[in-house]
Formats: sequence, C-alpha cells, structure tokens
Amino acid sequence: MPNAALISQKIAKPHLEIEGDCALSGEFSISGAKNSALVLMAASLLTEESLVLQNVPQLTDIDGMSEILLAMGIGLRRSNDALHINASGLKHVELPYELVHGLRASFFCIGSLLARLGQAKIPLPGGCEIGARPVSEHIKGLKALGAYINVEHGVVTASVPGITNRLKGADIVLDCPSVGATETILMAAVLAEGRSSIENAAQEPEIQDLAKFLNAMGAKVSGAGGPKITIEGVKELHGCNYTVMPDRIEAGTFLLAGAITRSVVSVTPVIPEHLSSVLQKLRDCGCSLEITDNEIKITPKEIKGVDITTQPFPGFPTDLQAPFMALMATAKGTSVITEKIYENRMQHVAELQRMGASIRLQGNTAVIEGVPNLSAAPVCGGDLRSTAAMVLASLSAKGVSKVEGLKHLDRGYSAIEKKLNKAGAHITRY
Ligand code: UD1
Repeated sequence: MPNAALISQKIAKPHLEIEGDCALSGEFSISGAKNSALVLMAASLLTEESLVLQNVPQLTDIDGMSEILLAMGIGLRRSNDALHINASGLKHVELPYELVHGLRASFFCIGSLLARLGQAKIPLPGGCEIGARPVSEHIKGLKALGAYINVEHGVVTASVPGITNRLKGADIVLDCPSVGATETILMAAVLAEGRSSIENAAQEPEIQDLAKFLNAMGAKVSGAGGPKITIEGVKELHGCNYTVMPDRIEAGTFLLAGAITRSVVSVTPVIPEHLSSVLQKLRDCGCSLEITDNEIKITPKEIKGVDITTQPFPGFPTDLQAPFMALMATAKGTSVITEKIYENRMQHVAELQRMGASIRLQGNTAVIEGVPNLSAAPVCGGDLRSTAAMVLASLSAKGVSKVEGLKHLDRGYSAIEKKLNKAGAHITRY
C-alpha cells in the first residue's frame, strides 16, 4: 500500500517550497518590464532595418513572443538581455492559434502587421483566468484608420484597401482607456497617411515606453502618457537600439516582499513615478520609504489595514492587487480591496484563506481582517499575479508552504526564487 508521502510525491506538479517567517535584506535587481518588452517586440515588425532591444527579461512570455516572431519569418537572436531583431524577412501575416493562445500581447501584432504589410490574420485572444478581455476597442480603432475587418470562426482578418497599402490617419476616442488598444492603434497609426489622435488613451508607463521606442525609430508621436496622443504618420521607420524600462510590477512585488516580512529592502533600477499610487498605499499602511532617482528603500513599521481600489494608471494597478492583499492579510485592522479592472481577479482569496487569512468576498470586493500570523499550506496560484501573492504570503507564514502555479509565475517573474534567496529567503524549486 503506498503511503501518503509517496502518493503526494507522485502527483506533485512543479512547485516552490518556501520556508516562512523569514527575514529579508539587501537590494533586489529589477528586470526589464515584461509588458513593455512584449509590445516593443510587436512594434519591431514596423521596420525592415535591424533593431536591438536591451534589458529584455528572461521570461516564458518573451520566449512565446519570440516563437511567434520566428514563425513570421523574422530574424531573432538573443545575447544575454539583448534581443537583436530583423524583420526584413517578414512574410507570414497569419498567426497560428497554437502560438497565440495564452499570450494576449501577441494579438497586438495586428496593428504593426497591417501598417507594414497591409494584411493580418490573427485568432481572437479570447478570455483568460482573470476575465473576458475583449478586443473590441482595438478593432474599432483599426477600422477608423480605414482597415477592413472581418471576424469569423474566432479569427480576425484585417486588410488595408486601395493601392497605396497605407492606413489613413483618423481621430479615435476610446470607450475605455485600454492599454492594449492604445498600443495596437499607436503601432498602426505611425505608418498611416496623415495625422491621427487617440483620446481617452491609456496612460500607463508602457505606453510611454512604446512611444519613445517608436520615436527612436523615426515616428512622430506626442502626448503619450497623457489622455490624448497625437501621431503624424511617416512613410517608413528605421532601426535603433533601445533599452526597455524597468518592470514596475516586479519592483512593487519585491517592495511588498519587504513589507510582508517586515524587512528593510530596496529595489533598483526603478522609475519611482511609475509606482506613485502603490508607494502612497505603502506609506499609508505604515512603511517609510526612501526614494532616489532609480531606487526605493522600504522600512516597514507596524502594518495597518488600508483600502485599495484598482484603477487605470495613475491609479492603483490591478497587477499588484493580489500581492497587496497578501500584505493586508497580515495587517492590523480591516482593509477593503475592490477590483475594478477585471471581473474575475479574486481567485487568490480562497488560497489565502487556506493559509489562515480572514477574508470575506462580496463580488469584486474583499474585506480583510488582518491576522497576526498566516500558516503555511499547499497552495496553487491560478494566474500570474495570484501566484506571486502566494509566494509573498508563504514568506511570512509559519512553516513550509508549497506553491504551485509556476507556469503562471514564470511568465512574468525572472528567476524570482533566486532573487528572493539572495535576499535571505529559503526557497527550493521542484
Ligand atoms: C494590459 C497588461 C495587463 C494589465 C492590463 C491593465 C499587457 C500585455 N498586459 O492588458 O498586465 O493587467 O493592461 O493594466 O500589457 N477592455 C474592453 N474592450 C477592449 C479592451 C479592453 O472592454 O477592447 C477592458 C478589459 O476587459 C479590461 C480593461 O478594459 O476590463 C483593461 O484592459 P486592457 O487595458 O486592454 O488590458 P490589456 O492591454 O489586455
């Protein structure tokens, strides 16, 4: 008769074993931003000339996007954190479902494919673990720029009519400030004939990074980072060497790792303005912060409950909602966390409850009564950021936790256990 230990060994999925109640110290080195790098890779289709992207993080999402570019006939070479890209051989305008599925940013290639080749055929990305995630605003914007679009059998077929093969500048007002739609339309509009504008544009730092990259390639984009972006179309773009900005969500996660273990840690490089709303909430709940140009040091005191509502930038980012909830589970008093961006981003609540957190969930609002200690348990993250929340909770819990969901975690955190272990954690990957 096999014993329980043997059975659990046999059915074990890849996981991290994390010793809790740990103290951290030192400096976390922050990688390039995943959500920026993915979109810059999509934008690299816009020129035939060679490009170098520096500070590209080592993540499975980046590997997935690289496979997609290779499948389109693009030259790609990685050396350390630099990605050398040459899209002169771009020939396939059709992306296969198997590659696109699960990597939402790959849909954003539709804008650059249309601008460069006048055609694109991309499967709808569909929903994911956190919500339905429509692309109606992307399609609305491309239609306004003159594209013909047909959605059939789950595939979007887009083409530019006429002999010039060029989209036409247009004034577009988004219904909601979608990050992906703003990026898709921006990539399409840079090579369009004439002037375009995007109102109610997303203001996330990744939009500014994309605009800077496009301008380094010879585009004429102004206003990115604000609610209205203006684009003067140009005939062609050229190569450049560009460094991806630091990942604000990774930096926020490690600041929260400091807060939840009540340890003094710092993160660098970071652009502090990208984290303003998060830094404010960290101060409000009892952390003191020392901020320089590219570094933030956190010194947690007694952590009190604070309320959070996720919002588009510059509001509190949805991608740090789950990690912040892990901290609030250990705070003194009550906090109320409301998720306003996605309809299904509360799966971490049940897992945190398994670790002893006291949380009541009413729709998309969680009411958290902090407890003095979480207790280690086997837990499983259902999406990228909820798995990060499990890692944070485990660092603080009493005992050894087992965290599953690494296929999500590895999409967005580069060598997370190495970085945490360097700061004093005890984490083993199995
Ligand atoms: C990006 C980020 C993701 C982050 C999100 C919000 C990437 C690869 N991903 O996702 O990590 O959580 O921004 O900061 O950059 N919406 C519509 N219609 C549309 C498009 C979006 O209603 O056509 C809604 C979505 O359902 C969602 C909200 O707008 O409720 C935000 O989505 P969006 O800003 O588009 O997120 P992504 O660009 O997909």
